[in-house]
Amino acid sequence: MDITRVLEVPVKEFFRQPRGLIGPGSWEMAGPEAKTMGLHHVLIVTSGLRGTGIVDEVERNFEDAGVAVSIYDKVESNPKDYNCMDAYQMFTDDDCDGFVSLGGGSSHDCTKGARVVAAHDGRNVNEFQGLFKSENLENPPHIAINTTVGTGSETTPFAVINDMSSDKAPHKWVAVDRAMTTTLAINDPLLMMTMPQQYVAYTGFDTVAHAMEAYVGRIQHLSGTPLALEALRMVSDNLREATSNPHNFEAMSAMTWAQYIAAQAFSCSLLGILHSLSHAVCAYYDIHHGLNNGIGIARVMEFNQPAAGARMADIARAFGVETRNMTTPQASDAAIDAIVRLAKDVGIPDNFGDVVEYPKDRRGTGWYERRPADIASDDAELDAMAAHLIEDACTPGNPRDISHAQAREILRDCVYDPMDRSAKRLARMRGEQFNPQNVPGTDTTGAFVAATRA
Ligand SMILES: [Fe+2]
Repeated sequence: MDITRVLEVPVKEFFRQPRGLIGPGSWEMAGPEAKTMGLHHVLIVTSGLRGTGIVDEVERNFEDAGVAVSIYDKVESNPKDYNCMDAYQMFTDDDCDGFVSLGGGSSHDCTKGARVVAAHDGRNVNEFQGLFKSENLENPPHIAINTTVGTGSETTPFAVINDMSSDKAPHKWVAVDRAMTTTLAINDPLLMMTMPQQYVAYTGFDTVAHAMEAYVGRIQHLSGTPLALEALRMVSDNLREATSNPHNFEAMSAMTWAQYIAAQAFSCSLLGILHSLSHAVCAYYDIHHGLNNGIGIARVMEFNQPAAGARMADIARAFGVETRNMTTPQASDAAIDAIVRLAKDVGIPDNFGDVVEYPKDRRGTGWYERRPADIASDDAELDAMAAHLIEDACTPGNPRDISHAQAREILRDCVYDPMDRSAKRLARMRGEQFNPQNVPGTDTTGAFVAATRA
């Protein structure tokens, strides 16, 4: 019997989690852990974490433990295929026997790509996109030292890489690969406390996206959904404070746990079209993944309401909304409004048109250098991004099927319309045409965006 006709995901997989160390001071255990693993010479893969001094301190930590260090510090935001190949080349040239990724998702994903390349004698990293492409599962050891409250990559079996060289470019692809799971994941809130406020907000919204998509998604893996809901509650309680005051240890520690358990949730429950949308926009504009999620989340939740209203009502309660006197649709509306409020409070821009040029991108990467500074997609580009969204590996996990036209409309809304859903909701209920000029405060962008522009 073809049970896929009646059960969309009849068999669910639990992906192995790596060992994890979490808590203040845990990063200092990295060097001794490498020594215990029998490593002699590691390659630290990082974006450089400029201005923090963290790379120097971690280098000393390994050398004090008797482990030699080489450093590849050219990882770009939304790691590119050539970053993976360059890191692999240095790993080979310097006779390294293990990897250390230091930073956020870009550093971890770049390292995962470089490890797979190392395990397959230098084959191009773009050959490993998609599901379970590794033929050799024995990747070199990988210690991931995480410094953000959003990625989750330090503990998941996934990597996301920008293909900038094949005839599919620009294409941000996802790999689901058991061989990519790290050897040791380290989450130290003391490192998260060095993040600029803007990145606390952006990466915090990556955690919101992971937890929301895992909780409402099609997989419904029961080892993940309770964690997802708890992560949402912790973000609701702590992201405002962690963004406003990154030196508040309690708030950042809570966000560290929230990002860690949200990642465990989506390791098994997978994701949905919010991540597909984010990947598409990253491919074309190379802006921050968490920022994309913050802009897209209200639009995607609104689209998913018919298929996931009851789950969104749970999210409203996790955000502290009293829903006893609400219907399920009203409570799911309230969840969206609560998330919009959080996005506004931490400075997420209203739409992609309000995003200023992202400062870490377009460093000698050819294709992006020729891109306009402002995001104002025309019909052809919206169509291209919609096709990218539909084909993304995360799309099948979404609770509601999506057509090209629907994807295109969500993207158009993200580029041009206000984030607040209440005016659109009212117009829809009245059978009126929505007019963005009637929305109060639509020209109000987040404080961080205004500061960046100043
Ligand atoms: Fe993400």
